[in-house]
Amino acid sequence: MKREEIVVPEEAIARQRDFQQSIRSMFAAREAHPTACVETYGCQQNVADGQRIMGMLLACGFTLTEEAGEADLVVLNTCAIREHAEQRVFGNLGILTHSKRENPEQVIVLCGCMAGEPRVAKRVKESYRHVDLVFGPQALWRFPELLWQVYETKKRVFDQGDSHGQIAEGLPVVRERGVKAWVSIMYGCNNFCSYCIVPYVRGRERSRDPAAVLAEVRELVEAGYKDITLLGQNVNSYGNDLDTGYHFPDLLEDIDKIPGDYWIRFISSHPKDATPRLFDVMAKCSHVANQLHLPVQSGNNRVLEAMNRRYTKETYLELIRYARSVMPGLVLTSDIIIGFPGETEAEAMDTVALVEEVGFDALFTFLYSPRPGTKAAELPDPAAREDKQRWFDKLLEVQNDHSAKIHAGYVGKTVRALVDGESGDEEFPLSARTEGNRLVRLKGDKALVGRFLDVKITGSNTWALYGEPV
Ligand code: 5AD
Ligand code: SF4
Repeated sequence: MKREEIVVPEEAIARQRDFQQSIRSMFAAREAHPTACVETYGCQQNVADGQRIMGMLLACGFTLTEEAGEADLVVLNTCAIREHAEQRVFGNLGILTHSKRENPEQVIVLCGCMAGEPRVAKRVKESYRHVDLVFGPQALWRFPELLWQVYETKKRVFDQGDSHGQIAEGLPVVRERGVKAWVSIMYGCNNFCSYCIVPYVRGRERSRDPAAVLAEVRELVEAGYKDITLLGQNVNSYGNDLDTGYHFPDLLEDIDKIPGDYWIRFISSHPKDATPRLFDVMAKCSHVANQLHLPVQSGNNRVLEAMNRRYTKETYLELIRYARSVMPGLVLTSDIIIGFPGETEAEAMDTVALVEEVGFDALFTFLYSPRPGTKAAELPDPAAREDKQRWFDKLLEVQNDHSAKIHAGYVGKTVRALVDGESGDEEFPLSARTEGNRLVRLKGDKALVGRFLDVKITGSNTWALYGEPV
């Protein structure tokens, strides 16, 4: 597709603003003060989408509430990555039948990744008749128009959007107050890992213009955000679709020139597109955190191939070796799937062995969950659930031991940390992050939130460090 077709024209965005105004006027004419509740599930990308949904709702005249039952409009912004996430959403949709019975005017919206699946849309159409509006991630920017249609026609509206997906700049956004912010730099995914539903629901890879990203980061830094995470399904392929020779490391270099006291992080990376140049640039840029999340998924080459990951265990290890050589003390994390269809115990133990060899700082571990429509869901999957669980527990045990050891190594040291909020704990009332994104529970006054501090580490466990400002 041509760039002009991918970037939504300003006139089309302006039309959405008109729909926002129409909804606002409709409520004003009724002297109504409508409330909306947005529940977001899943990854940071989805949280970022949720912030845009809230932005559009405010522009439509809603005030936000956390009480779904009492709200005039409820949005479930869903995740489709594993079956468990989907079941939770169907459960919550079921609960909403009660509030809808009490308030038939209530509008119920299902959006996000699940809503991008035709299978789910069909099930909702047939069996969840209290849901008024269903739209996938590709249709997000047209939310005001779709919502207007619901109010105007009093009919149910289903819209999956353009299957490739577009880029919409300038949508309103409600950000969490505080020190952390997220910036989507690209959307979609072209990789088609055989277990993953994301490419089906989020369309093809498309990169925002560097100028738009840079302007957004600059604005955030000026507004006082200090921990900014760049988001994309695979940020390492940022720019490939721009055909200008401008790639992710170039973007990092340009962001790094923005003056201020802040850290830049990014998720997620694909090993097949991570290059030595990326690591050199990370090492050189003072704002880029000394941290890398590089999902490996498996430590067995046959499984990696069946997953369509397009790298081997050996090339992964080589990448890590290089990254650590240019970034000493690099905090390294990864994602792992246990129980991919056809995986044997020996293959799962290869993954455990890789984890031992690399010594990750932390892991996100998942039991394989079949997603209808993906290649892997069609493969025979003979291993028993209990066996997979046993392999999974073994992996966790190895990682937890290692995480506890790494954390114990911090005790007595002084590290720089950013106080990012309150912890709710009496003895250690503050929560902070190191540059490597390690969680620190901190003594001190809440006036310190938002400050970078030198922190003496006094204790640790598997999940966190404990300390006090020096
Ligand atoms: N089953 C289990 N885990 C999955 N992931 C993606 N798809 C699946 C699936 N079908 C995991 C991968 C990915 C992370 C975001 O979720 O590890 O990196
Ligand atoms: Fe995020 Fe993937 Fe879940 Fe969608 S399916 S919300 S992209 S984790």
